[in-house]
Amino acid sequence: ISAQNRLIIEADRGQNTINRHIYGHFSEHLGRCIYGGYWVGEDSSVPNTRGIRNDVVQALKDIRIPNLRWPGGCFADEYHWMDGIGPREDRPKMINTHWGGVVEDNSFGTHEFLDLCEQLDAEPYISGNVGSGTVEEMSKWIEYITFDGESPMANLRRKNGREEPWKVKFWGVGNESWGCGGNMTPDYYSDLYRHYATYCRNYGDNRLYRIACGANGGDYNWTETVMKNAARHMQGLSLHYYTVPRNWGDKGSATNFDEKEYFTTIEKTLFMDELITKHSAIMDRYDPQKRVGMIIDEWGTWYNVEPGTNPGFLYQQNTLRDAIVAGINLNIFNNHSERVQMANLAQTVNVLQAVILTDEEKMILTPTYWVFHLYKVHQDATLLPISFTSNKYRQGDKEIDAVSVSASKNAGGKIHITLVNADPNNEQRISTQLVGASAKKVSGKMLTSAKINDYNSFEQPSKVTVSDFKGASLSNSGLSVVLPPKSVVLIELQ
Ligand code: AHR
Repeated sequence: ISAQNRLIIEADRGQNTINRHIYGHFSEHLGRCIYGGYWVGEDSSVPNTRGIRNDVVQALKDIRIPNLRWPGGCFADEYHWMDGIGPREDRPKMINTHWGGVVEDNSFGTHEFLDLCEQLDAEPYISGNVGSGTVEEMSKWIEYITFDGESPMANLRRKNGREEPWKVKFWGVGNESWGCGGNMTPDYYSDLYRHYATYCRNYGDNRLYRIACGANGGDYNWTETVMKNAARHMQGLSLHYYTVPRNWGDKGSATNFDEKEYFTTIEKTLFMDELITKHSAIMDRYDPQKRVGMIIDEWGTWYNVEPGTNPGFLYQQNTLRDAIVAGINLNIFNNHSERVQMANLAQTVNVLQAVILTDEEKMILTPTYWVFHLYKVHQDATLLPISFTSNKYRQGDKEIDAVSVSASKNAGGKIHITLVNADPNNEQRISTQLVGASAKKVSGKMLTSAKINDYNSFEQPSKVTVSDFKGASLSNSGLSVVLPPKSVVLIELQ
């Protein structure tokens, strides 16, 4: 049994809202994410609405998915949106050069994506093509989607069956322009960004939130240069960081890992906090009012693909370790919600740290899914300031914080605390002082399992799932909590 972790929650001092868009997702034309994951076509035997799987839509609505980023990723800078409109049988086919060299038949395009967002009740986040597209192409796409009046693009939209414009707020101007999106320098990209963003017009009352391509992990020079040159033309700046247990050549297995590799995975996940802190400090110099949001539009674990699957499809299983990674990242994002306005897990279905896996008509929910289920209570709630001293989790001569935490108060006055005990061997006792509020009732839910590499399979879909948490109790001196080893816990106080 561990010593006491100490937590103080200032329940009457919350100032920032946790933007619900922190709980966003990302879906690319990659492997079986779009095709098979969402899109089965209208004639499929899988129950669908206008070609989109009903089971997947319902599962995502159940976690209150607030937004969906599409069509990439690296694919976005090769995507020409006009190939994906009009009668499906007439749409040209292309090669998805980034992801497996497979044929992309463009059957899922702008109308299908925006229909998906309407079915999900989620806001679209479209990633525009800077790498191989033109200013005109991007500008016309926005006109096609959002313009209400008489114009060539609005008329084309009507001809293709959609009378009313859609509302689209989030608009990405290039993806990973430092890499797959064009191998640009930050100076060159800043100029291009200013040029493209100028023609990303606001039509009618549609207001775009333009998101510039941000840094790859710890590339602070990218943030510095793009903020210096273009901050006043953007509303958001992205950041990409993946948790890769080993290295890019051999990333490690999704299910078969020892405790040393588990420790490294958590250690690398915790690095997200340092990244946000340091990029924020740079952004603060150019934007002290925090007008520009930090948009972490790709995050999550990245392992070797499952044996026997297409290496270009990035299909991986998802264990309790992934749930711990998700819980820690989401706590970090909440605690930085002053600057972090959106985050998008890569990628929703069948790719990387997916929340959903499908096999033909079958669907399972991963441990990561259940973390989003627990944490959805934080969406649009007020972040509560905390001070926290954590016990350490040690491996060899290294040590990291064992426990991660964030807390919020919702509009109804309920307080929610999400806690992760990354230590797979020891329970963690937490003595909590609640300042500025008194709670009468405590309840909770938790996610854990017998082994850290337990996962849900099509044969055993509910091996890792949520259960009631009984380890929290209230007394005159506050709240005391006992977290089981390797667990993610939600506590509700009222
Ligand atoms: O999510 C997979 C890929 O990771 C994306 O296409 C790209 O943006 C990133 O490198």
